[in-house]
Amino acid sequence: MSQEVPFGHALTRHFMLDENYVSVNNASCGVVCVPAFQQHIRLLEESEKVQDLQTRYRLPKLAEQTLNQIAELLDTSPSNLAFCFSATQAISSILLTFPWTPNDRILTLNLAYPTCQFAVDFVRDRHGIQVDTIDIDLAYNRLELLSQIESYLEKNKPRVFVFDFVTSMPVVQLPCKEIVQICKKYNVISVIDAAHGIGLCPLSLSSLDPDFLYTNAHKWLNAPSGTTILYVSEKYHDSIEALPISYGYHIRKENSPPADALNVRFLYASSTDLPKYIAIKDAIAFRKSIGGEHKIQSYNYQIAIKGAKIIAEALGTSYFALAPPIAMVNVEIPLRCIPSSSFLEEFWQKKNTFLRFVKYHGKIYTRIAGAPFLEESDFLYTVDVLKELCQFSHES
Ligand SMILES: Cc1ncc(COP(=O)(O)O)c(C=O)c1O
Repeated sequence: MSQEVPFGHALTRHFMLDENYVSVNNASCGVVCVPAFQQHIRLLEESEKVQDLQTRYRLPKLAEQTLNQIAELLDTSPSNLAFCFSATQAISSILLTFPWTPNDRILTLNLAYPTCQFAVDFVRDRHGIQVDTIDIDLAYNRLELLSQIESYLEKNKPRVFVFDFVTSMPVVQLPCKEIVQICKKYNVISVIDAAHGIGLCPLSLSSLDPDFLYTNAHKWLNAPSGTTILYVSEKYHDSIEALPISYGYHIRKENSPPADALNVRFLYASSTDLPKYIAIKDAIAFRKSIGGEHKIQSYNYQIAIKGAKIIAEALGTSYFALAPPIAMVNVEIPLRCIPSSSFLEEFWQKKNTFLRFVKYHGKIYTRIAGAPFLEESDFLYTVDVLKELCQFSHES
């Protein structure tokens, strides 16, 4: 595709997006681009016709090729990467199969994504591991936070620290590079939830150098739904199992290293939709064809900020943005309370759009997320929708 295609509505037809749907919450499910969707469907059709041959021979080779391209984008070796069907599968595989010892401790943050926190809670409940939490605020002070983390690690020597690259709601970016360095200093294993990572901003794993990290290609890379990439540093390849427990495990029972490489253990953990993973390479190619990662990420940031300003000014509230190119903005919404889910189900379908709300320190926020197909007019529409919602909330 020509690099001249302007960003905004002209690009909508290259995404699997209803042209009447106003998609300003792209950070939840993401929006798959047409070439990746078509590749996914094409490979599914081909593989259904000769399942054994495709599943055993052709698709794993194609999956390996895609993993090589992802490794290039993430600046790491493909041997450190594996496909997962969700961030939740990734954190479960890490924490639920990790070889814990009785006095281990885990450190987490108060804004951890619920399903990832549940994996931590499970380890606490099942293994009696102590879990501590550090609170972060929307406008946290970077040096104070780093010093708080360092003091905790020095004093308590947890085995693992689970923290976000960028939190979900409200949106906060963590100084991950510095945190990883502090973890290394105190011999603490770093586990980074970078569900919002690949495609959102540059992400070099060789420079960040965490122990574990997982990132969702369906959120910001326009890949098919349910495509998560797990990174495990070489040191820990043999410390975790792919969930569900599968063929890779029986070798481990004899206390010898696993027979299969990390990626292979995850690939064969269960019958899975390999074509969706393979199609990530088509999302990468598509993004190159419309100008590349830098151009896309800059546009996403700029339109998200514009959108947040439009909404906050129209509603007389404030917004809280992160440093470029993190294209997610917290916008305060003057709702008295978050309407019931049954009301919202009907409301969003009528309005052909969707937003999420979170109550944080007594205020209600939504999260605006940029995308290459958005324009200012989408946010003007969002203003009308939100005004109607606020009016309803004040009348009820
Ligand atoms: C920060 C964060 N972590 C984890 C998840 C869970 O992702 P998944 O649905 O792939 O399990 C999300 C989903 O939105 C998220 O925002």
